[in-house]
Amino acid sequence: MSEPHSRTVVVLAAGEGKRMKSSLPKVLHPLLGRTLVGHVLNAAGPLAAVRTLVVVGHGADQVRDHLAWTAPEAIAVHQAEQLGTGHAVRIALEAAPEVTGTVVVLNGDVPLLRPETVAELVASHENEGAAATVLAAEVPDPTGLGRIVRDGAGRLEQIVEQRDATPDQLALREINAGIYAFDAARLRDVLSKVSTDNDQGEEYLTDVFKMLVSAGEPVGVHLAGDHTETLGCNDRVELAALRRLLRDRVNERWMRAGVSLRDPETTWIDVTVALDRDAVVDQNTQLCGGSVVGSGAVVGPDVTLIDTVVGPGATILRSHAVGAEVGPGASVGPYAYLRPAARLAERSKVGTFVEVKNSEIGAGSKVPHLTYVGDATIGEQSNIGAASVFVNYDGVKKHRTVIGSHARTGADNMFVAPVEVGDGAYTAAGSVIIENVPAGAMGVARARQRNIEGWVLERRAGTAAAEAAEQALRGGTKDAPAPTSSASEGEAIHGTAASVGGTHGAGDTATE
Ligand code: UD1
Ligand code: CA
Repeated sequence: MSEPHSRTVVVLAAGEGKRMKSSLPKVLHPLLGRTLVGHVLNAAGPLAAVRTLVVVGHGADQVRDHLAWTAPEAIAVHQAEQLGTGHAVRIALEAAPEVTGTVVVLNGDVPLLRPETVAELVASHENEGAAATVLAAEVPDPTGLGRIVRDGAGRLEQIVEQRDATPDQLALREINAGIYAFDAARLRDVLSKVSTDNDQGEEYLTDVFKMLVSAGEPVGVHLAGDHTETLGCNDRVELAALRRLLRDRVNERWMRAGVSLRDPETTWIDVTVALDRDAVVDQNTQLCGGSVVGSGAVVGPDVTLIDTVVGPGATILRSHAVGAEVGPGASVGPYAYLRPAARLAERSKVGTFVEVKNSEIGAGSKVPHLTYVGDATIGEQSNIGAASVFVNYDGVKKHRTVIGSHARTGADNMFVAPVEVGDGAYTAAGSVIIENVPAGAMGVARARQRNIEGWVLERRAGTAAAEAAEQALRGGTKDAPAPTSSASEGEAIHGTAASVGGTHGAGDTATE
């Protein structure tokens, strides 16, 4: 067996992508979890290259920054002027004179390329001992692409660009995908001789093929089984088409792996997401970034998850979550917003119109309705009353609220942080809690109600309200409310506490 070839990957990413009409370099446009260039680098992953060179030019700083955190091992090579694909590879090799073995060149804008396809191309190239091998595809519409021109015996003769092709060549449907394997030494030698004698006055990498052929060097063509892998991206219409193709590919993979997608056409799963068997994803749902969905969890309809981990058996309905953790069996939504570091323990609940940020909600605890929970720790089996706000911001700093376990806080509470409500404590509806509530205590912090008898009859005489009141008072003296304005302070507090204990008390809005 011959010794393994050392491999160098060269990604061409210096072009502007004019037709994208974007301030973002084309190769940085996102496509289901990675940038275009990110997909291409991923496709080259299994080659175990000794080095990866990325030719940058337009938006070089942006591309460099992106590489620094997504592919730190990649080396950016600057191409100040985009003088053609041949020029780009030439300067990459000049920047790395030590390169020997196999050079794999990939266009930076071919994101659907599969790693297996690149591996097959390189294996066929190395096994044949070829000087150069091109990845080709039979496409329904070759417009704009370089054509593979073969001789009578079916051997590659040359690659001709659309604009330099004869009418006969234009009719060919076998195209150059822009993915190649080369023998480093022979590539280096012939690249130095590439001319700019073509319609664009550029150094074409593709010219290397006809030069090697006329020098009698062995060149090969590797045909891709699935031509969609070789699709490039030149404008945003093509980007959207690629996105649909990738969506279908990703969705098919998950369905075959045991995940139910109720409406695959409206389900968009980033390539970086993981789902367990028997997870269910309902329609109009986007799963993005590092999101993970556990077994038996039901996500959707109408859910967006970004970098959010959903435990087994949890349900998320019509909600948006970023950087959150939803524990096993927990329930979220409809219409919840989970923000970074929202951590919901097992069987907890975050209900309708509830926003949670940087907070832990303990096992079995519930925040059912119309509430903001920010910078809080809530223990286990507690219940937060409807329409409450964890008032975490004093205008300068954020502060924490701590609610214990088995607590029952009343509806319409403000927890003015820093503040604590102890284990088993209650708070009365409508309270502004600014002082700690000890374990087992009832915190009441609201003005006492005062009824001014007959006010409407006197001040709003002649209105429908006054008439209704008059009728009620006339007809039902027995049911008329007793005067309360004379109640003492002690009675009022006793009254509140008593009503909390009843079924229609201070905290009842939130109990389930
Ligand atoms: C190229 C091929 C064509 C092939 C097609 C597949 C050439 C001459 N033609 O055409 O045969 O069918 O790809 O998509 O190679 N780039 C640089 N520096 C440059 C020029 C280009 O880095 O000076 C990069 C671009 O950013 C892009 C890639 O090289 O990622 C391809 O360049 P592009 O101009 O898109 O080539 P095509 O005309 O598409
Ligand atoms: Ca292109």
